[in-house]
Amino acid sequence: MKIIVTGGTGYIGSHTVVELQQDGHEVVIVDNLANSTINVLDGIQGITGTRPAFEKIDLTDRPATLDFFARHKDARAVIHFAALKAVGESVSKPLEYYYNNLNSLMNVLAGMRGNGIPNLVFSSSCTVYGQADVLPVTERTPRHEAESPYGNTKVMSEDIIRDLMRVEKSMNGIALRYFNPIGAHPSALIGELPVGVPNNLIPYLTQTAAGIREQLSVFGDDYDTPDGSPLRDYIDVVDLAKAHVVAIRRLLEGKNKANYEYFNIGTGRALSVLEIIAAFERATGVKVNYKIVGRRAGDIEKVWADTTLANNELGWRAEVPIEQTLANAWKWQQRLASK
Ligand code: NAD
Ligand code: UFG
Repeated sequence: MKIIVTGGTGYIGSHTVVELQQDGHEVVIVDNLANSTINVLDGIQGITGTRPAFEKIDLTDRPATLDFFARHKDARAVIHFAALKAVGESVSKPLEYYYNNLNSLMNVLAGMRGNGIPNLVFSSSCTVYGQADVLPVTERTPRHEAESPYGNTKVMSEDIIRDLMRVEKSMNGIALRYFNPIGAHPSALIGELPVGVPNNLIPYLTQTAAGIREQLSVFGDDYDTPDGSPLRDYIDVVDLAKAHVVAIRRLLEGKNKANYEYFNIGTGRALSVLEIIAAFERATGVKVNYKIVGRRAGDIEKVWADTTLANNELGWRAEVPIEQTLANAWKWQQRLASK
């Protein structure tokens, strides 16, 4: 089946393209390469033996996007990854984030509707829950006001899709709310490409272990958690990619119970920053130079997923052990350093 993957040369998109191809799908990637490189196609081809079709288009360009969809009306589904995703940057550049993330979504939806492409899987985030009052969060946990313009684009995007699906009964959507995606493909042929100084824990940690950064700062050890550092639900990127394949299958087979559904995609397990560092050291034998510093502004204390719905309805569950995920992240870091 032909599937359109927007943002398919990005971190999560590229891993999903691999899993889609390995499940027998034909993939067309559309990406403007704002935060990825064309070489990612070599990595995908190296793993699967098939080079996915690729078109360089900015999805905020409405005529170009509608033209793209008109040429691919035989596609049966779209996975919409394309977005800007840096939380901190979104605070300083709110208009750029709203413009990019919302216009590209609306153009994609218009392209789908105009060409009879019925199925959408959308990349949402646990950021829509903010600091939830009750943990773990289920899909019925109320969304909190977003902490950043980026987070707000996810809340607004979910609502735009919901409102469209209410009137377009022939269209179907699934929003996957990712928790903290980490790791890389075990082949080390694809992974995350951090630009500049990483903001996220794992790329900062692996760059510190590799000697590129001097020291990892642990942002706070005075939270109300067992060791004082914040708790997150770290989900392996290949497990996450597989969740998209099962979501696509659910839509293509018409097994969805409503024409717009939401699923938490995490492990169901909370790990602290200090536990991640210890697991990395166990998995790789490499010591991490770190120090505890003050809290990072805007960080929430703890969030992790109740994954019962995804387990029962999608028949999906996270499988990769955290040590394996961290070993893969390390292998990818070493490959990046050797390039
Ligand atoms: P990424 O930056 O690696 O990939 C996104 C891709 O979209 C990039 O290749 C970029 O070039 C492309 N893109 C952005 N704007 C575009 C536009 N206007 N037209 C065409 N292409 C465009 O990010 P990722 O980590 O792979 O994230 C994928 C999706 O998952 C995003 O929607 C992100 O918000 C969401 N998400 C990510 C995380 C995370 O921690 N990585 C967590 C929750 C949700
Ligand atoms: N952390 C450190 N040191 C660092 C980087 C991070 O201690 O150098 C800590 C943070 O304080 C946090 C944890 O590691 O406790 C995870 O931080 P990340 O930046 O890796 O991830 P976040 O949970 O802050 O953010 C992620 C995604 C966002 C998404 C958010 C939803 O990056 O896109 O989850 O909760 F919006």
